[in-house]
Amino acid sequence: MKNDWYKDLVVYQIYPRSFMDSNNDGIGDLKGIISKLDYIKSLNVNAIWLSPVYLSPFKDNGYDISSYKDVSPVFGTNEDLKELFDGIHKRGMKVIMDLVINHTSDEHMWFKESSKSKDNEYSDYYIWADGVDGKEPNNWESCFGGSAWCYVEARDQYYLHLFSKGQPDLNWKSPKVKKDVFDMVRWWCEAGVDGFRVDAISYLEKAPFDYSPNKPNAMGYSFCMDICSGRDNTHSLIKELRKIFDEYNVMSVGEVSVSSPEELYKYSSDSRKEFNMAIPFIPPVVEVDTWSVSKMKADIKASYEILKEDGCWARFLSNHDKPRQVSLYGDDKEYWKESAKLLAMITHLLPGTPFIYQGEEIGMTNIYYSDLNQYNDIDTKNFFDHEIAEGKSEAEAFKRCQLISRDNARSPMQWNDTKYAGFSKNNPWLGVNENYIKINVKAEENDSTSILNFYKKLVSIRLSNEALKRGKLEFLFENSPTIFAYKRVLGEEEFVCISNFSESIETIDFPFSNYSVLLNNYDENLLTQSNTFKPYEAVLLKRK
Ligand code: NOJ
Repeated sequence: MKNDWYKDLVVYQIYPRSFMDSNNDGIGDLKGIISKLDYIKSLNVNAIWLSPVYLSPFKDNGYDISSYKDVSPVFGTNEDLKELFDGIHKRGMKVIMDLVINHTSDEHMWFKESSKSKDNEYSDYYIWADGVDGKEPNNWESCFGGSAWCYVEARDQYYLHLFSKGQPDLNWKSPKVKKDVFDMVRWWCEAGVDGFRVDAISYLEKAPFDYSPNKPNAMGYSFCMDICSGRDNTHSLIKELRKIFDEYNVMSVGEVSVSSPEELYKYSSDSRKEFNMAIPFIPPVVEVDTWSVSKMKADIKASYEILKEDGCWARFLSNHDKPRQVSLYGDDKEYWKESAKLLAMITHLLPGTPFIYQGEEIGMTNIYYSDLNQYNDIDTKNFFDHEIAEGKSEAEAFKRCQLISRDNARSPMQWNDTKYAGFSKNNPWLGVNENYIKINVKAEENDSTSILNFYKKLVSIRLSNEALKRGKLEFLFENSPTIFAYKRVLGEEEFVCISNFSESIETIDFPFSNYSVLLNNYDENLLTQSNTFKPYEAVLLKRK
């Protein structure tokens, strides 16, 4: 097997709670996923990333693990997981599991023991500190807002949690933590996993407790980045982890908080042997407030330049932590179909391994619930409180929540136009988007011009052309604020993707007659290309 086989993948991310419910308890499960494997295969993808399915009290929907080797009964059993792995492998696809090792749940046995006293077998498994003047040890804030410290009477100490109180951070200075976690990683490798998406991994080593920067006014995310992200020992630990991955030929993608391309390079260059690629985390509120086509182009270019000879990119616009891509970057109304296809083209025709987040392939849109109680996400609720504390009115704060909520991406998958969108026969854990009557898999399977059928073609073109997987990238119309265009070149082969990433009509000066059209998001039968681009029009060309 080539040692860069991860460049030949197109990964489909499943958020199990919201994918398919087989036992009609309103929550998605493993049997539900198994029943949809042929659907996933029909997208032509060749890998599946499963967000956490482990035992958990679900304070952060499974990113709070209380037992690393057990499947939560909410999702099924370890046997069901084995059946799922077999089903995925039988169809020629790879399995990527989520690995959450910056923190556990406060219901993990390690934490329960650790909280009992200062001198037991697990007492140093977490990060404990004495209070100062009867208060928290310092002013650190958690990513989800509020103090990053929580008091435990039995120890008369505080523990650190960079995420919710229910997610205490592991103490990676303890050799026992390292050994136990590394053993667990090996155990999953032995169980047939082909890759890991490694959660919040840039935070393993914390700053000294006397480091107390001034509070920024963005939520705790930027605070945590400042205090704990990318410290030297974190990189050393990742290198050790990588050795285990290499032993098993397992691929890895790290979820990291970075503030520059140089930092991204550290995690995802080949030569440093950390991850094969990284998912840079941008807090939704920052992304919603600051993104633009020009910024997107500049960021892609900067990360390409730094990694082009020595690394790979996780290419994605969506996941369970972001608003829906067509609502955020495209137009979920008049140009819904065209902009969803344009975004897909941009992602899948760039260098790097493409990721599709469930529902993106049918153009699922943000969910705009009418009441805060309809939201489930802990981050959304804390964000509401943060906005109120910053002086916003309830109406303003709620409007912001609707835009940034991670629940936008977590509403149930829309399979058909029956009640609850065919996801479940019972009231789902999170409300279904009302537009399921129009936006659903069944309707799109039967429509040759659908977003779904477009994705199938696009993925197949990507995977069957070496130049699209490994070719060089050259930007075109670099300074245009609306035209997003680039070439992919390998040997004699040359592909060009040109898109009008705007609602206006644009005229593009390009020698179209030297190229044939492979894909057009308006009219797939179009064999020639005019130089007038309609709103959100995008084409893939091949040099004759
Ligand atoms: C990143 C995960 O993607 C997110 O969903 C989670 O809340 C945090 N890490 C904490 O694990």
